[in-house]
Amino acid sequence: MDEIHPGRVTKDGIRIHEARDFAGMRKAGQLAAHILDEIAQHVYPGQTTGALDKLITQMVQQAGAQSATIGYRGYQHASCISVNHVVCHGIPGAGIPMGKDETISRNLEKRRADDRLLDGDILNIDVTVIVDGWFGDTSRMYVAGKPKPFAERLIQVTYDALMMGIEAVRPGNTFGDIGHAIQSYVESQRMSVVRDFCGHGLGRVFHAPPNVLHYGRAGHGPRLEEGMFFTIEPMVNLGRAETRVLADDWTAVTRDKSLSAQFEHSIGVTASGYELFTLSPAGRFHPSWG
Ligand code: MF3
Ligand code: CO
Ligand code: CO
Repeated sequence: MDEIHPGRVTKDGIRIHEARDFAGMRKAGQLAAHILDEIAQHVYPGQTTGALDKLITQMVQQAGAQSATIGYRGYQHASCISVNHVVCHGIPGAGIPMGKDETISRNLEKRRADDRLLDGDILNIDVTVIVDGWFGDTSRMYVAGKPKPFAERLIQVTYDALMMGIEAVRPGNTFGDIGHAIQSYVESQRMSVVRDFCGHGLGRVFHAPPNVLHYGRAGHGPRLEEGMFFTIEPMVNLGRAETRVLADDWTAVTRDKSLSAQFEHSIGVTASGYELFTLSPAGRFHPSWG
């Protein structure tokens, strides 16, 4: 691969891509974003997460692309669907973990009887596709029916936190500047940033250096350079930051069962700032936009 695709890697192991590589990322990112646009109309109370994943699988196939998650470390689905207090890596069709209002049981692993979404559920859908060898990775929030006001606020703060992180993307800034922008905003809103999962470099690979932390100190961390490709994907909790992975080895939940939200873009650093590869073609990135 290095022979047909030369290029520089920084001392932190971060690949510097070339102008033509942006076109590849744009195509992959736009397909992932388009799939998230199309899935919006299928999210409603009574819908199942398994059916949503099936639709996503079909859309990836119909586009002639590949799912990056099917077969990734044994994962078998084209999406992760994380409902309510699930932080990330929720498995579609595998039963929705019960929230603290749904059970008085101490059993942390209790799941609903089926995968149906209930009115007021909030969910993150995360899709990664491979197009011509390039990876497009994006996720956003959806609501089944009518959101509770505190859930709506969580979603808005998480969205704004991602966008504030993105605004820190330009050559000369550091990865710490991105994390700091996200963390300081989220904590000013009395919510918490998950520390146990991070964004990542990507390109012709799914997960590459650096780890993109959603917290940090201004001026710290590797310096951003034109041609770096990575995701920013903050997870924000209404309660405490701590997470736990369920016995299925994938589903990450908030330890205190507080609600969690996440948005993710795949981003390229340009000479003057950034390009969002995963911008919604239909303008539907935020749940209130249709
Ligand atoms: N798309 C996720 C990310 O943002 C990774 C999912 S890996 C899976 O990095 F195996 F859980 F699908
Ligand atoms: Co990602
Ligand atoms: Co993702």
